[in-house]
Amino acid sequence: MIKIPKRIASLKPYKPGKPISELAREKQLTRIVKLASNENPLGPSPRALEAITTYLKEIHRYVDPLATELVQAIAKRYGIQPQHIVCGHGTDSLLADIVAAFSEPGDELLTSEGTFIGIYVSTHKQGRTLRQVPLKDYAFDLDAIQHAITPQTRLIYLANPNNPTGTMFTAEEFEHFMQQVPDDVLVILDEAYEAYAKDFPGYPVGVDYWYDNLLVTRTLSKVYGLGGLRIGYTVGPKYLIDALKRQKLPFEPNAVAQVAAMAALYDDDFLKKTVTTNHRSLKRMKSVFAELGIKQVDTAANFILLLMPSEEFAAQFFQLCLENGLIVRHVKPFGIPNGIRINSGTDDETSFALEIIERVYTHMIAGSNKKKDSPNETCIV
Ligand SMILES: Cc1ncc(COP(=O)(O)O)c(C=O)c1O
Repeated sequence: MIKIPKRIASLKPYKPGKPISELAREKQLTRIVKLASNENPLGPSPRALEAITTYLKEIHRYVDPLATELVQAIAKRYGIQPQHIVCGHGTDSLLADIVAAFSEPGDELLTSEGTFIGIYVSTHKQGRTLRQVPLKDYAFDLDAIQHAITPQTRLIYLANPNNPTGTMFTAEEFEHFMQQVPDDVLVILDEAYEAYAKDFPGYPVGVDYWYDNLLVTRTLSKVYGLGGLRIGYTVGPKYLIDALKRQKLPFEPNAVAQVAAMAALYDDDFLKKTVTTNHRSLKRMKSVFAELGIKQVDTAANFILLLMPSEEFAAQFFQLCLENGLIVRHVKPFGIPNGIRINSGTDDETSFALEIIERVYTHMIAGSNKKKDSPNETCIV
C-alpha cells in the first residue's frame, strides 16, 4: 500500500454541485440560471472565439513554452516590459507556482480570513502553513496583516478586490502596507477583478507599481470570459519571473488558450459591454436587496456578498434558490458561513434571479417569524 501524505489526505475533495440537467429533470425546471462562479454572463469574447476557430487545425503542434507572442501582447496592452511577465493556466496555477517557487514546506503564507479559496488549497497542498487574520468590516485588514508577520512568514496573499467580499483597498493603504512589509517577504497581489474595479476612486492598479517583493496575478477567466480555457499571467521583477519560468510546467499555458487570450485582450468593445452589463445588473440587485432588507457588502467586483441572519438560513436560502432554478454560492468554505455570493447577469438573468430571491427570502423571513409561534411549520417556496 502506498502511504498518502497527510497534506494530501487532509484536503477536502472538491464537491461539485448537482449537474444542471439532473436538477432540471428532478425539479421539472424549465430554466436554470447560474450566477455562482463570477463568470461573464455575456459568454466568451467574440474575438477570442474567432481566433480559436481559425487556430484549431494547428493543435497537433506543441505550444511555445514561453508564450512569446502572448507575452508581447500583454506587454503592449499594459505598457510592461516582456521580461516582467510569465503566463500560466489561470490564477490557480500561477498561485500554486508562486507558493512552490518562493517557499519551503513548513513556511508560512499569511493572508486574511474570508478570501479566495484557491490560495488556501495551494498552501495546504504544498505543505505550507496557512495563517489568517480576521477581516475588518468584510475587507482585508492590511494593518493587522502587517502586524501578524513573523520570521516564518515568506508569502503574503492579497486579493483586490477580494473574493468573496468584493471589497477593495486603496492605493494609499496599499502603499503604506508595502512600506511596512520586510523586503524578504513576497507579496502576491491577486487582481482577478481589476477590470471591474479600476474605475473606482483610489484603486491601486498593481502592474503600475514597482517593488522587488511584489508579484501581481491576473486572469482572463472573468471579464474576458475565458474561464474554461485556463489562462492568466503574473507580472513582477525579472528575478522573480525568471524563477517562475523555471517552476512552471514547460507547455503551460496551452496553445488554444494563448491564441484566445491574445485576441481577447484587444477586444475593447466586449470589455466595455461586459463592464457596463455588470454595472447595470449589480445596480438593480443592490436596490432590490436593500428593499428586501438583505444585508450586503459594498462591492468593486462583478458579484455581491449577501449576509444572511445565520449559517443555517444561508444554507436553506441557497437550497431554495437552487430548487427554483437559480444557482448562487454559499461561501462557507471561504470562511463566511452566513454569506451568499451572487454575480452579475444579463438583464434577463438579473430579472429572473431577483424574482426568485425576492420570493425565497420573503417566504423564509415569514417562515422564521412564524416558527417562533409554531415550531413545526416549515417554509416551502
Ligand atoms: C480572487 C480570485 N483569484 C483567482 C481566481 C481564479 O482565477 P482563474 O480562473 O484564473 O484560476 C478567482 C476565481 O474565482 C478569484 O476570485
